[in-house]
Amino acid sequence: MIRIYSDHESISQAAAELFTSRSRQASIICGRFSVAISGGETPRRLYEILASAPYRERIHWDEVHIFWSDERCVPEHDPRNNAGMARQMLLDLVPIPPENIHPIRCDQPPQQAALLYEKELKDFFKDQNPNFHLVLLGLGGNGHTASLFPHTPVLNEQLRWVSEVYIPELDMNRVTFTASYINQADQVVFLVSGLDKAVVLEKVLEGPYQPHELPAQLIRPNGKQPIWLVDKAASHKLTAQNQEDIDAEGPIPD
Ligand code: 6PG
Repeated sequence: MIRIYSDHESISQAAAELFTSRSRQASIICGRFSVAISGGETPRRLYEILASAPYRERIHWDEVHIFWSDERCVPEHDPRNNAGMARQMLLDLVPIPPENIHPIRCDQPPQQAALLYEKELKDFFKDQNPNFHLVLLGLGGNGHTASLFPHTPVLNEQLRWVSEVYIPELDMNRVTFTASYINQADQVVFLVSGLDKAVVLEKVLEGPYQPHELPAQLIRPNGKQPIWLVDKAASHKLTAQNQEDIDAEGPIPD
């Protein structure tokens, strides 16, 4: 489902509503809400909204468990670190118990950090279904999502939930959920904003299936299209092809 909103502020507000309603539903049904969040610039405003009224008060933070769908292997105080950014914008500002925050341990070598994170996920889900209630993702200008970059070996991974990956163009190690693991989630939501995402968004949604070029195309939670919260600028190249799927601004149905 593709939902088009007027601007970045509106997709952030819609995502905050969705986060809140999903967290409340999950708390009622499971007694906790498991969510994997992402890095990048787009979700910063969402985190800021969640950390302020009325969301800060509406969410039962003691039942929220925050994980990351990927991490850049830099120390947590480095501004590029995804967990560091989320702490600064959100987690340090809400009453979430420290043990409910599950960062990827980038003080370890990448391979070790990936193994440790997969173990942490397995311990967390234990004998329950290992599916996140919600995974929030962004879309990179080259079609990557999480740290699933074009033509990297991790794109073929079917068994692991988490993997290390080296990104040659950034000369950076990262740790990422695999596509096969993300696809087990109950719900996956992409936030996409800005004119500079219009070309890649059109390719991902309307172009031929080329997942090694455009890894975001691998994301099909339980075989279905994820939810795309997109602003007008990012959506302006989408054609009528998807019209049946495209919804105007408004509440997101369950
Ligand atoms: C990261 C990500 C990555 C991000 C996209 C979009 O750590 O870099 O999780 O997949 O979501 O690159 O980033 P922007 O929101 O900055 O465009």
